[in-house]
Amino acid sequence: MVKPIYVLGGPNLNLLGTREPDIYGRDTLEDIHDRLKAKSGDTPVEARQTNSEGELVTWIQEASREASAVILNAGAYTHTSIALHDALRACQVPVVEVHLSNPAAREDFRHVNYVAPAVNASIAGLGAYGYELALMAALKLSGT
Ligand code: DQA
Repeated sequence: MVKPIYVLGGPNLNLLGTREPDIYGRDTLEDIHDRLKAKSGDTPVEARQTNSEGELVTWIQEASREASAVILNAGAYTHTSIALHDALRACQVPVVEVHLSNPAAREDFRHVNYVAPAVNASIAGLGAYGYELALMAALKLSGT
Protein backbone atom coordinates (compact mmCIF):
# COMPACT_ATOMS: atom_id res chain seq x y z
CA MET A 1 0.00 0.00 0.00
CA VAL A 2 1.26 3.50 -0.85
CA LYS A 3 2.17 5.52 2.22
CA PRO A 4 0.48 8.94 2.43
CA ILE A 5 2.06 12.32 1.91
CA TYR A 6 1.72 14.28 5.11
CA VAL A 7 0.79 17.95 4.61
CA LEU A 8 1.57 19.69 7.90
CA GLY A 9 0.65 23.26 8.75
CA GLY A 10 1.80 25.37 11.67
CA PRO A 11 0.40 28.26 13.68
CA ASN A 12 -2.28 30.60 12.32
CA LEU A 13 -2.67 28.73 9.04
CA ASN A 14 -6.14 27.74 10.28
CA LEU A 15 -7.01 31.41 9.68
CA LEU A 16 -6.19 31.35 5.95
CA GLY A 17 -8.89 33.00 3.88
CA THR A 18 -9.39 35.86 6.33
CA ARG A 19 -5.86 36.36 7.69
CA GLU A 20 -4.06 39.23 5.89
CA PRO A 21 -5.47 38.16 2.49
CA ASP A 22 -3.24 40.65 0.65
CA ILE A 23 -0.27 38.59 1.83
CA TYR A 24 -1.66 35.06 2.12
CA GLY A 25 -4.52 35.02 -0.40
CA ARG A 26 -8.22 34.17 -0.02
CA ASP A 27 -8.09 30.38 -0.19
CA THR A 28 -8.80 28.60 3.07
CA LEU A 29 -6.51 25.82 4.26
CA GLU A 30 -9.34 23.41 3.52
CA ASP A 31 -9.46 24.68 -0.10
CA ILE A 32 -5.73 24.03 -0.42
CA HIS A 33 -5.93 20.57 1.16
CA ASP A 34 -8.89 19.61 -1.06
CA ARG A 35 -6.94 20.57 -4.19
CA LEU A 36 -3.95 18.48 -3.10
CA LYS A 37 -6.20 15.47 -2.43
CA ALA A 38 -7.70 15.86 -5.92
CA LYS A 39 -4.25 15.99 -7.55
CA SER A 40 -2.30 13.31 -5.69
CA GLY A 41 -3.51 10.36 -7.77
CA ASP A 42 -3.09 7.03 -5.96
CA THR A 43 -1.08 8.58 -3.14
CA PRO A 44 -3.24 9.50 -0.14
CA VAL A 45 -2.85 12.94 1.44
CA GLU A 46 -2.93 13.23 5.23
CA ALA A 47 -3.47 16.94 5.95
CA ARG A 48 -3.20 18.44 9.43
CA GLN A 49 -2.76 21.85 11.06
CA THR A 50 -1.76 22.76 14.59
CA ASN A 51 -0.92 25.89 16.53
CA SER A 52 1.38 23.88 18.78
CA GLU A 53 5.13 23.52 18.18
CA GLY A 54 5.34 20.23 20.10
CA GLU A 55 2.54 18.70 18.06
CA LEU A 56 4.36 19.57 14.83
CA VAL A 57 7.49 17.86 16.18
CA THR A 58 5.45 14.77 17.08
CA TRP A 59 3.84 14.68 13.63
CA ILE A 60 7.23 14.94 11.89
CA GLN A 61 8.47 12.01 13.97
CA GLU A 62 5.32 10.08 13.02
CA ALA A 63 5.74 11.00 9.34
CA SER A 64 9.26 9.59 9.37
CA ARG A 65 7.70 6.16 10.07
CA GLU A 66 4.31 6.40 8.37
CA ALA A 67 4.61 8.80 5.39
CA SER A 68 6.24 8.67 1.97
CA ALA A 69 7.06 12.41 2.14
CA VAL A 70 6.16 15.58 4.02
CA ILE A 71 4.99 18.99 2.82
CA LEU A 72 5.56 21.45 5.64
CA ASN A 73 4.51 25.04 6.18
CA ALA A 74 5.75 25.65 9.70
CA GLY A 75 4.43 29.23 9.77
CA ALA A 76 6.22 31.42 12.30
CA TYR A 77 7.99 28.40 13.88
CA THR A 78 10.09 28.43 10.70
CA HIS A 79 11.90 31.42 12.14
CA THR A 80 12.21 30.28 15.76
CA SER A 81 12.20 26.52 16.26
CA ILE A 82 15.38 24.55 16.84
CA ALA A 83 13.15 21.66 17.99
CA LEU A 84 11.59 21.57 14.54
CA HIS A 85 15.03 21.75 12.91
CA ASP A 86 16.19 18.76 14.96
CA ALA A 87 13.04 16.75 14.17
CA LEU A 88 13.49 17.44 10.45
CA ARG A 89 17.14 16.40 10.55
CA ALA A 90 16.06 13.09 12.06
CA CYS A 91 13.25 12.60 9.52
CA GLN A 92 13.92 9.67 7.16
CA VAL A 93 11.58 10.72 4.34
CA PRO A 94 11.82 13.70 1.94
CA VAL A 95 10.48 17.02 3.20
CA VAL A 96 9.42 19.96 1.01
CA GLU A 97 9.01 23.29 2.78
CA VAL A 98 6.35 25.65 1.45
CA HIS A 99 5.41 29.24 2.26
CA LEU A 100 2.58 31.21 0.69
CA SER A 101 4.47 34.48 0.96
CA ASN A 102 8.17 35.02 0.32
CA PRO A 103 9.67 35.46 3.80
CA ALA A 104 13.01 36.56 2.29
CA ALA A 105 11.29 39.66 0.90
CA ARG A 106 9.56 40.55 4.19
CA GLU A 107 10.62 41.71 7.68
CA ASP A 108 14.15 40.93 8.87
CA PHE A 109 12.90 38.52 11.54
CA ARG A 110 11.50 36.30 8.77
CA HIS A 111 14.93 36.01 7.14
CA VAL A 112 16.03 33.57 9.85
CA ASN A 113 14.95 30.06 8.79
CA TYR A 114 15.56 26.94 10.92
CA VAL A 115 13.60 24.72 8.53
CA ALA A 116 15.34 25.31 5.19
CA PRO A 117 18.74 23.81 6.14
CA ALA A 118 17.02 20.58 7.25
CA VAL A 119 14.73 19.88 4.27
CA ASN A 120 15.13 18.71 0.67
CA ALA A 121 13.54 21.72 -1.02
CA SER A 122 11.81 25.02 -0.36
CA ILE A 123 9.06 26.80 -2.31
CA ALA A 124 8.02 30.34 -1.36
CA GLY A 125 6.14 33.32 -2.70
CA LEU A 126 3.71 31.56 -5.04
CA GLY A 127 0.64 31.60 -2.82
CA ALA A 128 -1.56 28.51 -2.73
CA TYR A 129 -0.08 27.35 -6.05
CA GLY A 130 3.15 26.66 -4.16
CA TYR A 131 1.41 23.76 -2.43
CA GLU A 132 0.65 22.15 -5.79
CA LEU A 133 4.29 22.48 -6.82
CA ALA A 134 5.30 21.06 -3.45
CA LEU A 135 3.02 18.07 -4.08
CA MET A 136 4.68 17.42 -7.46
CA ALA A 137 8.09 17.66 -5.79
CA ALA A 138 7.09 15.38 -2.90
CA LEU A 139 5.75 12.73 -5.29
CA LYS A 140 8.95 12.91 -7.34
CA LEU A 141 11.29 12.82 -4.34
CA SER A 142 9.46 9.93 -2.69
CA GLY A 143 9.24 7.93 -5.93
CA THR A 144 5.50 7.30 -5.45
C1 DQA B 1 4.28 31.76 6.21
C2 DQA B 1 5.37 32.83 6.40
C3 DQA B 1 5.73 32.99 7.86
O1 DQA B 1 6.70 34.01 8.00
C4 DQA B 1 4.52 33.38 8.67
O2 DQA B 1 4.84 33.45 10.03
C5 DQA B 1 3.36 32.48 8.43
C6 DQA B 1 3.07 32.06 7.07
C7 DQA B 1 3.81 31.69 4.74
O3 DQA B 1 3.20 30.69 4.39
O4 DQA B 1 4.03 32.63 3.97
O5 DQA B 1 2.61 32.17 9.34
O6 DQA B 1 4.81 30.51 6.56
